[in-house]
Formats: sequence, structure tokens, C-alpha cells
Amino acid sequence: MHLKPIIAANWKMNHGPTDARAFLQRFLAQAPRQHDRTLVFFPSALTFSAVMESVRERPDIWVGVQNVYSEAQGAYTGENSVLMARDAGARVALIGHSERRHVFGETDAATTKKCALVSQARLVPMLCVGETLAEREAGATAAVVERQLTAGIAELEDPSVATMMLAYEPVWAIGTGRTATPDDASDIHGVLRRALAARIGEKAAAGVPILYGGSVNRGNAATLLAAPEVDGLLVGGASLDPDAWSSIVRS
Ligand code: PGA
Repeated sequence: MHLKPIIAANWKMNHGPTDARAFLQRFLAQAPRQHDRTLVFFPSALTFSAVMESVRERPDIWVGVQNVYSEAQGAYTGENSVLMARDAGARVALIGHSERRHVFGETDAATTKKCALVSQARLVPMLCVGETLAEREAGATAAVVERQLTAGIAELEDPSVATMMLAYEPVWAIGTGRTATPDDASDIHGVLRRALAARIGEKAAAGVPILYGGSVNRGNAATLLAAPEVDGLLVGGASLDPDAWSSIVRS
């Protein structure tokens, strides 16, 4: 199955509302609506509503949140819940991003709860998986991403698994200038696709978009996107500049 590519910008802790409005004014002028792809922005929670407002006229652009807390509401100072994300207009939530796992110590068990809450709130979870350099060198890449996938989908009903998104982001490639080769990305996406098929069947698994992320830039975006099994891109650093980003979304 050939899926409509999803090109997603993870702004991480960059771009406040003022910067975001200026970015989008410039970017939207250069990037007219494209029917053959979906764009996603993941701004910070504080910047979310500025982005929503700026893309109001663009149904081809989705806005998502970078994280949600593992409870739906309550006394959790400083956190954001998926119910708030839904109320604010989010359609998708990144879960288990490498920085959540490796900077903030997020566990597989937390990703289980978060994916379940996100899908109960009828948002799409975009579950991120990826191995560290040490795991890669130990030959454990497939085992690690399968373990992370299994945890992420543990409490999802099959129809929710079929409508989620995955992002393969090798930890050693994020923000380092090193990318997986298109062949490596295809191999690991294949591992994920087979694991999905074991759970929901081959036909449904073929419809789950699997994005690649990790040092994607305007020089390598088209090649990575053309690789078999790569259904989209999740881009950090190169999504922060409107000119670089508009050239990537036209890849
Ligand atoms: P990068 O980040 O493109 O800066 O490597 C990707 C990501 O963390 O999603």
C-alpha cells in the first residue's frame, strides 16, 4: 500500500508564540496546500494556540503535542493532559520521543499508559521508538524497537493500533548530523511492520504510517522518503527554519 506521506516538524523547546507566528507567515507563503501529503507541527504547549490560529485555513496541516502526562487530569503541577490537548485542537500526540525516554527517564510502562489515554481521547498517538548507539553496536536494534512497540500498543484495541502512527528515530541519529541509511531505515521499518502485522494482520499493518527521524535535512529528505517502508519524516533541527522546512515538505 502506498500511504500519503506525513512530514512532521518537532520543534522541541524552540519557538515561542511570536517566533511561531513569524515562521508560519513566511512558511505558508512558500508552501501552498499540497493534497498528496499531510504536514504536522509539534510546537511547545505554550506555542500551540499560536500555531493553531496561524494554520486555521489549512486543513492539510495538523497540529500535535510533544507529550502528554500519563493521567487524564488532576494534581500534577506543570504537566499537560491529553484532554487539554484535544480541547485545544490537537489531532496527534508524540509519545515516547527519545528525549522523553533518555533525558526525562520515561519508561516503556509510561508509554503504555500514554498511548492508551491518547487513543481513548480520540487523538492519534505517534509512538517514537529507537535504539541507542550501544544497543545498535550490540546488535539489539530490532529487539529494542520491538520491545518499545509492544509496550506502546499493549493497552490499545486493535482498531486503535491500525490508526496510530510510528516514528523510528535511532537515538544516535537525533541532532547529531548522522542519519540511518535509507536501507537501514527500511530494514527497521520492516521489523516494525512485521510486528504490527503479528498483532493486527498484514492488511491493517500496511496502513500504519512509519516515519523516519534523526538528522533529516533538505539534502537527505527526498532519498529517505523514497526508501521502501518509509511513509514520512519526523524532523527536529531542520524544521526550525521556514526556508529549510518548506524545501523539505516539497521533497
Ligand atoms: P533532529 O531531531 O532532526 O534534530 O535529529 C529529530 C527528532 O528528535 O524528532
